[in-house]
Amino acid sequence: GGVTTIDPGYKNTGSCESAITFLNGEEGILRYRGYSIEDLAEKADFLEVAYLLIFGELPTKEQLDKFYADIKAESHVDEDVKKILDGFPKSAHPMGVLSSLTSALIAFNPSSVNVDSDEDMYKAIVKLLGKFPVLVAWALRKKNGQPLDYGDDNLGYVENILKMMFKKASSDYELNPTVVNALDKLLILHADHEQNCSTSTVRIVGSSHAGLFASISAGISALWGPLHGGANQAVLEMLEAIKEDGGDTKKYMAKAKDKEDPFRLMGFGHRVYKNFDPRARIIKKAADEVLSDLGVEDPILEIAKGLEKEALEDPYFVDRKLYPNVDFYSGIIYRAMGIPVEMFTVMFALGRLPGWIAQWKEMRARKEPIGRPRQVYIGETKRDFVDISNR
Ligand code: CMC
Repeated sequence: GGVTTIDPGYKNTGSCESAITFLNGEEGILRYRGYSIEDLAEKADFLEVAYLLIFGELPTKEQLDKFYADIKAESHVDEDVKKILDGFPKSAHPMGVLSSLTSALIAFNPSSVNVDSDEDMYKAIVKLLGKFPVLVAWALRKKNGQPLDYGDDNLGYVENILKMMFKKASSDYELNPTVVNALDKLLILHADHEQNCSTSTVRIVGSSHAGLFASISAGISALWGPLHGGANQAVLEMLEAIKEDGGDTKKYMAKAKDKEDPFRLMGFGHRVYKNFDPRARIIKKAADEVLSDLGVEDPILEIAKGLEKEALEDPYFVDRKLYPNVDFYSGIIYRAMGIPVEMFTVMFALGRLPGWIAQWKEMRARKEPIGRPRQVYIGETKRDFVDISNR
């Protein structure tokens, strides 16, 4: 028999049991494997958090060293991947480039698809963690028309990413500790968020036993949309537009509340948080610190703070429990670091990668069945076929 009820957007439907991320949207609590996001952002680094999410425990020094050595051993991609990248126009959106190249990696690493043993699974995971940052850096370098090469084995995971993104052919890129710390923190804050749109996509694609890379590539596409990870780009474009338009935040607040107007206050609201997004609190503070450390004065930060203040006092936003989310301030930090706006969602993907991997691994380890929702059919009842000459 068919189903009789549906839950559009799965607002009240659980899809799995998971031991990875705890989220309490009413109280604004977020924990990875039991550790609070505040502690992790303050005390851990991104690679430790990746290990924690994927394997369930904080690593010892030896475990972390081995993990990183295994990742570094996989930090080259096949030279032919450059030819694929060459075929894209320079104007290609880096999210499209990232998703395509992640998928293309399957062709060069066919052994990553079958993960019947724990060892095969581990290999596929370190391969992806090694190669993904190269693709991220190349997506940017392609945009900038810069030569494509590899990282520096002597650097930490996040430092290496920054250097791969920004080093010039002639001069070396000098790492700024403020930028390294801020990016590390941002990546940690994005590392997992339980069954969101892209993560559910990764799990459902993976549930057909498509490989890890194919599942992640699908997750990247899901993340791209402005209602999800694409919101960080959309926030900055919105703040720019408000600035260009004279900085009248009240006008945009009115637009956001007008049901006839499709405009939404980007970076506000969340399916699960009906309280402050705890990540937004940390990021707002980090934005202040990074801008002052780097000596950047960005009028857009003032516009963002103005909008936030007005929204938090406005009955429309209060009644609907709409608070700033993770994406509201992150773009301001990325911009201060010199990361172009079209790369913002790519940075989100880089951060979310360990979460996607952890969720995919959990789904496979628990031998979950193939994802296959039902529907309520609302189309025509049985009809007789009409020949094309009689239609
Ligand atoms: N501006 C104006 N009104 C809003 C907004 C907003 N940003 N967000 C929600 N609303 C209103 C919405 O119109 C609805 O009003 P009413 O009850 O009168 O019809 C009510 O609040 C509930 O919203 P919803 O769209 O039913 O809620 P949802 O859970 O389906 O959507 C959301 C959640 C995040 C897609 C939505 O809040 C939104 O579009 N926000 C802006 C985009 C954004 O910042 N996305 C990033 C989310 S966090 C990071 C991530 O997921 O990647």
